[in-house]
Amino acid sequence: MNITRIALAAAVALAAPLAAQAQQAKLKVGLMLPATGTFAALGTAIENGFRLYVDEQGGKLAGREIEFVRVDDESDPSKATDNVNKLIKRDNVDVIVGTVHSGVALAMARAVRESGTPLIVPNAGADAITGPLCAANIVRSSFSNWQPGFASGVMAAQKGYKRAVTIYWNYAAGQESAKGFTEAFEKGGGKVIKELTLPFPNVEFQALLTEIAAQKPDVVFAFFAGAGAAKFVKDYDAAGLRRSTPLIGSGFLTDGVLEAQGASAQGLQTALHYADGLNTPRDNKFRAAYAVRYKLQPDVYAVQGYDAAQILAAGLNAVKGDVKNRDAMLTAMRKASIDSPRGKYTLAAAGNPVQDFYIREAKGRDNAMTGIAVKVLPDPARGCNLR
Ligand code: PHB
Repeated sequence: MNITRIALAAAVALAAPLAAQAQQAKLKVGLMLPATGTFAALGTAIENGFRLYVDEQGGKLAGREIEFVRVDDESDPSKATDNVNKLIKRDNVDVIVGTVHSGVALAMARAVRESGTPLIVPNAGADAITGPLCAANIVRSSFSNWQPGFASGVMAAQKGYKRAVTIYWNYAAGQESAKGFTEAFEKGGGKVIKELTLPFPNVEFQALLTEIAAQKPDVVFAFFAGAGAAKFVKDYDAAGLRRSTPLIGSGFLTDGVLEAQGASAQGLQTALHYADGLNTPRDNKFRAAYAVRYKLQPDVYAVQGYDAAQILAAGLNAVKGDVKNRDAMLTAMRKASIDSPRGKYTLAAAGNPVQDFYIREAKGRDNAMTGIAVKVLPDPARGCNLR
């Protein structure tokens, strides 16, 4: 054996165990979610759903164990760029899953457009993420803010309401939900006569409720979520408005908070891409597994977390776990057909689910499905050039 062949043999002997090690290296998933503040429970549900799907695959995706790197983003946009850059630059994660708050997610989208890190958004609806900021490395397992707002507007117009007041937290999610609502409601013959807002995450609703009583609209459309939604629905009832003025909303108003809202929420009608009582084999299986594992009923946030893991798995399976093969992985994520508890869906070119919107009515502890507001609703993806 000459020197070259000896060197080669040594190199091969060294490389083989290295390759085996690389195969087993854990996949680093950055989980950027709120663990504190008004959206804390939403972050927990998303993480629960994500972990449930991974566990159902035997604790691995495409043969790779997962190492989670968690960041509490506090739903604070002013800390978002620093938080996401920690995951990208310090922790060097393979993929990022996050977050709930649109303002935080916008900063995340900008950061991953620079770094190329794959980002799966498991809630935040900011329209720009699948609009002007759309990118090959960004997909959503949730919705655009326009979608549930639009579906709620269709529902309100169908019920024959003519004069509406909208009320919401004054940031991307509230503004864009109200815009979607107004678009569909006015197309259906209604008119939004007043918009009332307060800064996120304030819950001092009293003056605005007094204004609603003075306006005497046929219907009120609200965007609030999490702990803030729990308080709004109770305050609306306590102000005596529940009897005089129907309150509707995108389903975030009552999802995951019905127990806290108690009698105040009973009968509320909302529109969302998930509902209780879908009673499909897929959803029943998911709900049973979630209840066993967490001693809780799942909500829309849990479903979106579960589906974020499904989308990631579709990408990883296509490249046999090799995240370095990034383009092929991203293409497979976007082309995935997701067998979701909410119903099957695909992603549009911009990366947003094309999905059905259910009408739900709060009955006991359930947001019970009572009909369909809009079937197969794509986001218009205005401003996205990825077609
Ligand atoms: C958002 O900020 O995009 C957001 C937050 C909570 C929700 C829905 C949307 O329930």
